[in-house]
Amino acid sequence: MGNPSLTLNGRSIEFEPGQTILEVARANGVTIPTLCHLKGCHPTGACRVCLVEVAGARSLVASCSTPADNGMNIQTNSERVLKTRKLTVELLMASGKHNCITCERSGDCTLQDLAYAHGVDEIRFPVTPQPHATEDANPFIIRDFTRCILCGRCVQACQDVQVNRAISFGYRGPKAKIIAGPDVRYDQSDCVFCGQCVQECPVGALVEKKGKFLGRVKDVQKVRTTCPYCGVGCQLNLHVKDGKIVKVTGVEDGAPNKGRLCVKGRFGYDFIYSDERLKTPLIKENGEFREASWDEALDLVANKFKEIIAKHGPDAVAGVSCARSINEDSYQMQKLFRAVFKTNNIDHCART
Ligand code: FES
Repeated sequence: MGNPSLTLNGRSIEFEPGQTILEVARANGVTIPTLCHLKGCHPTGACRVCLVEVAGARSLVASCSTPADNGMNIQTNSERVLKTRKLTVELLMASGKHNCITCERSGDCTLQDLAYAHGVDEIRFPVTPQPHATEDANPFIIRDFTRCILCGRCVQACQDVQVNRAISFGYRGPKAKIIAGPDVRYDQSDCVFCGQCVQECPVGALVEKKGKFLGRVKDVQKVRTTCPYCGVGCQLNLHVKDGKIVKVTGVEDGAPNKGRLCVKGRFGYDFIYSDERLKTPLIKENGEFREASWDEALDLVANKFKEIIAKHGPDAVAGVSCARSINEDSYQMQKLFRAVFKTNNIDHCART
């Protein structure tokens, strides 16, 4: 027996049992917009932006949470769907203040894209004022509740992706809010500042404090690299403007981290621009450091190693590879000690 099939926008398509309508559509190149849906997490059906029309169904259904069924006849862009989606976007925009002019996420905001795509140039509903004050007292993340659409992606990112369980939904009705712990500041809660909530926020409700006003998506060049901290090899996108990093995000589909980062990988890049950073090798003479060339420093170190090994044997020397080195450098370091110096006195400093 073959796979079940359905009709999607007039096209007959086979699908794998267990797939949602959204998954079938995406696998077949059909775009259905989403806001609350977070890949790999259980669908919550919170935003209703992904509604589609299924023949015979009484109402439109959320494609992210509705399993595909054999014989379904689905329309993703019917007049009814587009009208309802536009209404949903208008209602979302009527909750809080969605002023794009100085928003950090302008140009990289799903709500902005949806409003544009559906021609929402005026909001027909009274705007609900947001009762919760912006939080920027913590060192890394600004929480602007006037821009929050309560999609819950940040909650899933915290609870299900990073499993930190620091934030959740709080209050009800117009007072509804994403809260940290019993509604305290991030820095007073269990938050570890991995910043995954910021990365998954589809609007400008959560932004990186350090990058504010330094460059938005149109201003930066994304440079993919490997995190310089531990040896896991997490993949980062450096957002670079005028040769300076203004923000770091995880590479969404890149192994091994699949978009996830820790606080160091996401926020710990200040050291690059520190005035105290050593830029040349230093050699200590008579108790004082003096600047030296790489050739001079390397010759000195090599000669010292040779001298000690000749006098006391290879086990008289030891090496500790820096935790900020890349895996390849640490590998070469242990090769140098084991294969060249003939000692196993080699370790890796795991803490920074
Ligand atoms: Fe399906 Fe939000 S993406 S309800």
